[in-house]
Amino acid sequence: MVASQEVHRRFGGVVPELASRSHQAHIIPIIHEALNKAKITKKMLNAIAFTRGPGLLGSLLVGTSFAKGLSESLQIPLLDIHHMQAHILAHFIENSNEINDMPPYPAFPFLCLTVSGGHTQLVKVNSPDSFEILGETLDDAAGEAFDKASKMLGLPYPGGPLIDKLAQEGNPNAFVFPHPQIQNLDFSFSGLKTSILYFLQKNQKANPKFIEDNLHDLCASIQFTIVQVLIQKLEKAAKKTNIREIALAGGVSANSGLRKAVVTAGRKNNWNIYIPKLEYCTDNAAMIAMAGYFKYLKGDFASLDVTASARIEMGLSNSAQ
Ligand code: KG4
Ligand code: ZN
Repeated sequence: MVASQEVHRRFGGVVPELASRSHQAHIIPIIHEALNKAKITKKMLNAIAFTRGPGLLGSLLVGTSFAKGLSESLQIPLLDIHHMQAHILAHFIENSNEINDMPPYPAFPFLCLTVSGGHTQLVKVNSPDSFEILGETLDDAAGEAFDKASKMLGLPYPGGPLIDKLAQEGNPNAFVFPHPQIQNLDFSFSGLKTSILYFLQKNQKANPKFIEDNLHDLCASIQFTIVQVLIQKLEKAAKKTNIREIALAGGVSANSGLRKAVVTAGRKNNWNIYIPKLEYCTDNAAMIAMAGYFKYLKGDFASLDVTASARIEMGLSNSAQ
């Protein structure tokens, strides 16, 4: 289940304190709604999976405390989940591959490009509990690049889906933005943000209505640049690791330009492509449950001492940090 957080739109981004208060307000009603929708009672639950991190501490604390209370009162195991691992494991939710002529689930080891509002990572996934980060962003995440660019264009938060929509009617080659010059498998998006800012300022001096007059082309060109950067790194990682099982995950994998580009790159490179259904790309509870299922099978339960963690590494168990 996903509770819509209108509050973020009103403030043009996520304000940590408001996000945490909104979690508090929504957590009980959304759990009731989820149980009703699944036509089960809480007594029928086998375990409680919750997001331990990474993310905003205030929001994580709400979920962690609530999950602990629920597992204690129902006397069922507690499963602490890593948010980015859950994005990746969303691929194993009932045949969630969007690409029809491809296998339903990725085979291990597979490469996953995980692109969200807070992270951009190239991950080698060896098993449901073994993840190797091959590259990640040195500054802004891909989703942040979309959101910040859209803010500069005067669009509401979150801008990623809007840029995607407006880009459909624009020319991706109308404007050219520089690519970051990072040699290894890491990413950097802060330079792109600055170059878009200067580009807009310069053109608005000559034409105050520059953004309005070119909105579709601007969105298409920005999206094209971000997607190209992502795909080039993905190709590099696939070559380096010699892996042909290629997956996308995270909120930005909902982007239609990225989805198309990875299919094209897949045909060119003879990859098997895995793209989750839209509802499993952006944050959702099903992916947390899926990650919980794998931990449950291993009996890898959390103790009541477990704490929320704003920064937490991939693949390490709760006792390790
Ligand atoms: O994974 P997610 O739902 O939350 C985090 O874990 O951050 O990702 C949210 C990010 C936001 O930056 C949002 O703008 C971006 O995903 N996003 C998109 C699209 N849908 C969501 N970016 C580009 N195109 C989209 N269609
Ligand atoms: Zn996420």
